[in-house]
Amino acid sequence: MELLVPLVIGQILRISGYVAAIALVSVVMNLIHQLFFYKRNEPPVVFHLFPFIGSTISYGMDPYKFFFSSREKYGDIFTFILLGKKITVFLGTEGNEFILNGKLKDVNAEEVYGKLTTPVFGSDVVYDCSNSKLMEQKKFIKFGLSQEALECYVPLIEEEVNQYIKTSGKFKGPTGTIDLASVMAEITIFTAGRTLQGSEVRAKLTSEFADLYHDLDLGFSPINFMLPWAPLPHNRKRDTAHARMREIYLEIIRERRNSGEQDTQAKDMIWNLMRCVYRDGHKIPDKEIAHMMITLLMAGQHSSSAISCWIMLRLASQPEMTEKLYAEQINALGADLPQLEFAHLEKLPLHAHVIKETLRIHSSIHTLMRKVKNPLPVPGTPYVIPTTHTLLSSPGVTARDERFFKNAMTWDPHRWELRVEEEEGDTVDYGYGAVSKGTRSPYLPFGAGRHRCIGEKFAYLNLTVIVATLVREFRFFNPEERNGVPETDYSSLFSRPMQPATVRWERRGE
Ligand code: HEM
Repeated sequence: MELLVPLVIGQILRISGYVAAIALVSVVMNLIHQLFFYKRNEPPVVFHLFPFIGSTISYGMDPYKFFFSSREKYGDIFTFILLGKKITVFLGTEGNEFILNGKLKDVNAEEVYGKLTTPVFGSDVVYDCSNSKLMEQKKFIKFGLSQEALECYVPLIEEEVNQYIKTSGKFKGPTGTIDLASVMAEITIFTAGRTLQGSEVRAKLTSEFADLYHDLDLGFSPINFMLPWAPLPHNRKRDTAHARMREIYLEIIRERRNSGEQDTQAKDMIWNLMRCVYRDGHKIPDKEIAHMMITLLMAGQHSSSAISCWIMLRLASQPEMTEKLYAEQINALGADLPQLEFAHLEKLPLHAHVIKETLRIHSSIHTLMRKVKNPLPVPGTPYVIPTTHTLLSSPGVTARDERFFKNAMTWDPHRWELRVEEEEGDTVDYGYGAVSKGTRSPYLPFGAGRHRCIGEKFAYLNLTVIVATLVREFRFFNPEERNGVPETDYSSLFSRPMQPATVRWERRGE
């Protein structure tokens, strides 16, 4: 036995030696390849030491820093290696246009997102179906977000926020501190639940549904970009949660059908989808309605909860802005501050500017990707992007660019008062209603083109009412130990404020 120990150690050392030698050779080959065998008709590759890993770490730690520093070295178009995949970034308004308004035959979203999102959203919806079917599904959801529906949502959202203030236990007494990350996540899921999802789902949100949401969300762990199918504990939880959530929606649909009740709550999305009919004449199957409802819950929640958290953090770091919002409400709506109505919102431009400015700097979606389906010549350059590459657009880069926004990294809602946005006359209809082509704009927090967000109006309405209601009740301040706002946490697929996102609140009139 004792004789075996040196033998085993020797064997381990020999194997480690081989592994080190192979690693060294591949590093050297990778360097030689980058220095001497680059293709002139392809965008430059961001220099990296290790094959496969490439620029994964610098991109993953701070994508914007990586994009800006790579742009300085290589210009607006460059390729980097992300876990073995070749990702071609095209920055600037030209890049946004090239990628987001690319032709359907040339660029494809479902091949990039589908494997990750299908286990979460479910089959036959969004990226698990043809693009033309997705466009129809987006049209159905847009019907459900009609002006009439949005008008009904305003008092419901205000009520939800007030109920949260009263019952959550987070706002006891005249002053206190809260972790905004959890508070805003809860408020936004309750308001979306009450409005988009309907009363049955809202009723379950305080019990089973919140846990299901949490488990389903594990499906968006960054590791799942590579291993969405892996039999890991978080994926098993995701699958169980998906199955149960689908069953809950199916039960709701069945009960509504059996009750013989007709659209009494015509404004909720489930009723709307139960009425919709595909172009070929068939109704949306119940399973697809369930999956579309899960999509809506998951698609809107991350962005809305992160951006509302950033808004409140910004207000806490500039308390005078909170006072301006409060004054705006008093001046526009009267000192008695009546219950909010849809018509009030357009009288609150500073509220809109606060949201707009926060989305400019803090949008949680820094990366939009498309798989290249045909070799793509880039106009005005010698480059042709091959089909082995994935394209990456980051509208957040133009939104942070000094050329478009003076003092770009300063949070200043007032900049939108002076700014005359070029209204683009050009609209296009991809099958879900006319949308502005928009890609020449440096400000695209909701994307552009056929995959543009359909939740923008709802998001603005929801955020405005949430912020207006909180500002009526409270003043917010940074804790003593913090200046400004926390750093951004890029470790999950959707960026968010680094935690703890603590603020101190004071009740008005105390
Ligand atoms: C502040 C809140 C939000 C932001 C910043 C945001 C941003 C975006 C962006 C940038 C995209 C484009 C993705 C791409 O091109 O690859 C997108 C797509 C989408 N958004 Fe939103 N979103 C928000 C809220 C919502 C809400 C509330 C809903 C639902 C009511 C929603 C539903 C969707 C859907 C279904 C898509 C997929 C569209 C497609 O691939 O065709 N979003 N969103």
